[in-house]
Amino acid sequence: MSRDQGIKMAFDMTTMFRPNLPPAATPWEEPPDYAFVGGNNDADSIPFGSLAEAAVNVLKREGKSLATYNLGGSPLGYLPLREFLVDALGSRASMAVDPNEILVTSGSLQALDLVNKALLTRGDTVIIEQATYGGMVSKLAGLGVNWLGVDLDEDGIVPAHLEQLLQSLAVEGVTPKYIYTIPTVQNPTGSVMPADRRREIVRLAHEYQVPIFEDDCYADLVWDGTRPPTLRALDEVGGAVIYCGSFSKSIAPALRVGYIVADEHVILQLSTLKTDAGTGALEQLTLAEFAPTHFDDHVERLMTALKAKRDVMVEAVEREFGPDIHVTRPKGGIYVWLTFPADVDTGSFAAEAAEDGILFNPGAGWSAHPEWGKSRLRLCFGDATPAAINTGVARLAEIYRASLS
Ligand SMILES: Cc1ncc(COP(=O)(O)O)c(C=O)c1O
Repeated sequence: MSRDQGIKMAFDMTTMFRPNLPPAATPWEEPPDYAFVGGNNDADSIPFGSLAEAAVNVLKREGKSLATYNLGGSPLGYLPLREFLVDALGSRASMAVDPNEILVTSGSLQALDLVNKALLTRGDTVIIEQATYGGMVSKLAGLGVNWLGVDLDEDGIVPAHLEQLLQSLAVEGVTPKYIYTIPTVQNPTGSVMPADRRREIVRLAHEYQVPIFEDDCYADLVWDGTRPPTLRALDEVGGAVIYCGSFSKSIAPALRVGYIVADEHVILQLSTLKTDAGTGALEQLTLAEFAPTHFDDHVERLMTALKAKRDVMVEAVEREFGPDIHVTRPKGGIYVWLTFPADVDTGSFAAEAAEDGILFNPGAGWSAHPEWGKSRLRLCFGDATPAAINTGVARLAEIYRASLS
């Protein structure tokens, strides 16, 4: 073949992809009318006016620092933002933190990746909550890690079951790499673990020498404001808990700013795995300018809006689905979790619902054991309007009932 002929041939890039990639994404489409999936926030509550003002002020003052990676400062993140977190975690979560114990990340998704990268090897075992964040389950699957699901009740992890799992793993000679928990506004069940139970989980972590990975990204959104101390704060012996949080749920997910809190030597190790040359500086600068004066008031307003939507969602589910389907009344956050009779597979009517513009998360993907989760589903009420919640839930209930016949 001459060189000219070669240039005219179409180049098939797909033949170059390495094996075992996930299926390619489908092109982006406008979200349908009733997208009760994802962890999106209430659009009307985004404080864009104050964020814009903060961005202008901080850029006028410090704009020249954009010339340097990490704004010319520490790779752990913009110091004033870490100092805000020190204050906020101290006052809101009773957790004493030093700025050097914080690594700012690109969303808490990156926090999950960094901790996983530091701790996990293919074939390792971890303990996760029976109902849990689907994003974490798929990460663990991708890493070839085994997991066991620990039972939950209305207060979160059941300590007796956790102990049973730890004991039986110890008998098998397996030390799990961590216990992953979302103790405050659990995703998807919405429970808030009381302080005593947190102490018990921390005690078990020390007894069995298994670290805790505490994911607290909804913790600012507890309706009645009673946020218990973090597990990390309750770890009096110390060293057992890696904590992560996020501004996604308290301010805006598109900002992509999260953070890890851990002992300094752990943070320094994790920082070597963060190879993106720093989380977006504009976001960090803006948040650091905005948060000290606006965060508390903003979160107060956001919670009022979200709580009203929670009420609309719970009432709509109870009205439209009837008494056979249990719906949680979450203590905060943006999700409700529905439990159907055991023989129902909520995945079986997901495609039909999608054709009608209704998206939900079938429970199998949000559970340690798909078989346990398949009779459940998750609905997000964060960004849907009350009208969309009422109409979408009514239609979803019709589709569910039709699927039974
Ligand atoms: C429990 C949990 N952890 C982490 C994340 C990731 O959030 P982000 O990367 O936006 O901080 C989410 C998102 O919904 C979540 O529910």
